[in-house]
Amino acid sequence: MARMRGELCIGLASLLSLASLLLLIFVHIGQINTSTVPRKISMVKVNMSNYGQSIQAAVVAVNQVVGLYTTNASAPLQAQAGLRQFYEFGLYSYCAYVEENAGICGNHTAGERFTPYDTITADMISNYSILTAPIIPQNTFRDSKYLGDSSKAAYWMILLGTICAALALLTGIAKNNFTFFLSGIFSAVGSLLLLIGASIWTVLIQKASVINTSVNPVNQQPVDIIISRGNGLFLTWAAFACLVVSVLPYVVSCCTYRG
Ligand SMILES: *[C@@H]1O[C@H](CO)[C@@H](O)[C@H](O)[C@H]1NC(C)=O
Ligand SMILES: *[C@@H]1O[C@H](CO)[C@@H](O)[C@H](O)[C@H]1NC(C)=O
Ligand SMILES: *[C@@H]1O[C@H](CO)[C@@H](O)[C@H](O)[C@H]1NC(C)=O
Repeated sequence: MARMRGELCIGLASLLSLASLLLLIFVHIGQINTSTVPRKISMVKVNMSNYGQSIQAAVVAVNQVVGLYTTNASAPLQAQAGLRQFYEFGLYSYCAYVEENAGICGNHTAGERFTPYDTITADMISNYSILTAPIIPQNTFRDSKYLGDSSKAAYWMILLGTICAALALLTGIAKNNFTFFLSGIFSAVGSLLLLIGASIWTVLIQKASVINTSVNPVNQQPVDIIISRGNGLFLTWAAFACLVVSVLPYVVSCCTYRG
């Protein structure tokens, strides 16, 4: 009876840490390329599709904003080749889309820095990036140092949390009290790291979202840039929840397992 309870406990703990690891793998592949699954996963999204109106309202003399956006989904990024409608950021790169399914991704780096202002202005032809400077007010959306540094730091927390989840799962396979103890430690430390990483992302997205209600300081018209949370953030929180719940059965197993 006690033996069965032990097996059940460790089975539950392994299942939870496996679930956490799988969720984190999905988080890691978000926006690494534009194929179906990675394309749908991101940490944060920037919707630029109405920004043309903001430019239009700022330049009264112009009745049509021409050449702000590109329609070429494969035009290079950060080369003044034209703004895209949607920008989505993952942990390793960001992708920019002219429509929901058609886009291109930037270079890969460990810990993509979320710097929305720099990213969008680097795509605009210089006339429009010069116009954009006074339109977008001085707030967190423009604070590329804060947003970039925080998103990079959050990446390392999530990466280390992922490694801990994997180690918890692996050490739990060798069935004895000491390895269960190790698994418990790994899942506890991993949970803490994921909690920090997910919290940093949550706060920085919240702060950058100030742009959603910002107005052009010159004419008080809306800036028309919309930031929203990507599903990668939700997946990270879910991975945290699974891992933190696995701590208890690992600890119970280490104290009660008689193999
Ligand atoms: C982008 O923003 C516009 C205007 O706010 C909205 O109509 C549109 O549905 C948004 N698109 C996506 C994909 O969120
Ligand atoms: C789109 O951009 C790519 C890369 O610059 C270029 O090779 C291609 O010819 C462009 N397509 C059109 C239709 O302009
Ligand atoms: C990607 O890297 C190349 C070479 O370092 C650089 O020239 C290019 O501007 C980068 N592209 C982006 C979108 O950062």
